[in-house]
Amino acid sequence: MTTAAPGVSTEDRTQQVDVAAERARTRLPTEAFLTTHYLNSAGAALASLETIAAVSDHLRLESRLGGYEAAAAVVTRLEGAYAAAAALIGAEVAEIALTESATVGWQRFVEALRLSEGQRVLASRSTYVNSALQLLELERDGVTVEILPNDASGCTDLDALATALRERASLLAVAHVPTSSGIVEPVAEIGRLARDAGVPYLLDATQSAGQIPLDVGAIGCDALVLTGRKFLRAPRGTGMLYVARELCEQLRPIAPDVRGARWNGERSFEIVSLARRFESWEASHALRLGFGVALAETMALGVGRIGEHVVTLSRSLRRRLQEEIPEIRIADLGEAASGIVTFVRSDETAAETLERVRAADCHVVAVPAHHGVWDMSPRGLDAVVRASFHVYNDIEDVEALVRAVGERRSGGSRRAGSAASAARPTQVSSGDTGSACAGVGGSRHDRDRRRGPRCQHRLAVGPARRVGGPTRAVPARTPGGFLTRLDANDPPRLPSAGLG
Ligand SMILES: Cc1ncc(COP(=O)(O)O)c(C=O)c1O
Repeated sequence: MTTAAPGVSTEDRTQQVDVAAERARTRLPTEAFLTTHYLNSAGAALASLETIAAVSDHLRLESRLGGYEAAAAVVTRLEGAYAAAAALIGAEVAEIALTESATVGWQRFVEALRLSEGQRVLASRSTYVNSALQLLELERDGVTVEILPNDASGCTDLDALATALRERASLLAVAHVPTSSGIVEPVAEIGRLARDAGVPYLLDATQSAGQIPLDVGAIGCDALVLTGRKFLRAPRGTGMLYVARELCEQLRPIAPDVRGARWNGERSFEIVSLARRFESWEASHALRLGFGVALAETMALGVGRIGEHVVTLSRSLRRRLQEEIPEIRIADLGEAASGIVTFVRSDETAAETLERVRAADCHVVAVPAHHGVWDMSPRGLDAVVRASFHVYNDIEDVEALVRAVGERRSGGSRRAGSAASAARPTQVSSGDTGSACAGVGGSRHDRDRRRGPRCQHRLAVGPARRVGGPTRAVPARTPGGFLTRLDANDPPRLPSAGLG
């Protein structure tokens, strides 16, 4: 069990996971725990030793037997990875395609829908950059993309969605947890609305898989993508696409591959598999074996337990940052019931915060707005610092990060204990750009606004699109008269490593 540091409140304590045992499963006794405070599982989590061994053992087997014979020797274990993936989300094995990433799965599915001129797609503001880019590209073919508004909790506004679904749509795309905040979309409620309207519902579970239980039946999604390397702790280069049987049977991959199709005549071929029609024949079997082991470990520990552990740590971090550092603005909206915490300091950029906390061996990332424009830009955020937890983290990681964030080069403004809470800053508000800017003093926009005139020249990108409205981002004047634009002259100064 985790032991809380003296002075740590009982709500900080997490009883769900034996952190010491998880660390031992992740590092050899002779290795230091890689990075003292690894807080980027939403980027890429640390895989267990068993997962790494599954990958490297298979590479060794390939070097002895050759890739094809090695694959034949482990065919049962390879099939086990499909079974584990299906079990994780409550699907049939035949409905699972293994992919190299969530993006590959997303692209293969959306391409197979063969959307064309006049068709309409609804997308949540939580949509990930790669998915949004694909949709925006489809607009060039005449597809209409409507970005759903959020409600005050920062999640998709269900009333607006119900209204949007009254008109015929060909796809509804939602990310369960976005890359840019800790919110959790109400995916089952969204699923009910999509079902009633008969609209195919694609769920991006990339940031939720491994920390939030998934059941495609209960969620009501027709397709789901996820990646291996985040909360599932699988190696990089692994991912999965689920497509419900009935829908899958109607879809043809845009570029069929020998994996899922048989060339049976001079000018003919037939699709022979269900979801595997979306796979490529060539793939890293070593990585797939690692994916299978990681999935088995996740399920043995229990996604629910992992979730409780990371949510407890996230709540502690949010509370302590707010109580102890006056300059902190928490950027997560609503309940934010995930293992991801996003924040900014009002007196420095996210990149500056990142640099300082890295010096203290705290490994977090800064997520720039261009990774989540639909989520971050309306809130006036040009970047957020993102910390994320896993089973190898405990309250000492929280404490270290709070200490590192609170200490300034010029002396430090960390408050002593929670007495500081009287002056606690408010959370970033959702929705309109004006109120959001007021709440996110850490963004360069906000500092510009306080400094004065320069900011007046900036143009606002309001909500880039409202349901039924035009797709292109329209310059918009906000309630406070403050206009913002993330423009080419003022790109976020951020390293690109460790994002996603
Ligand atoms: C919400 C979300 N969806 C999709 C992706 C893309 O995943 P992948 O890199 O495996 O394609 C990410 C990556 O960070 C993400 O955060």
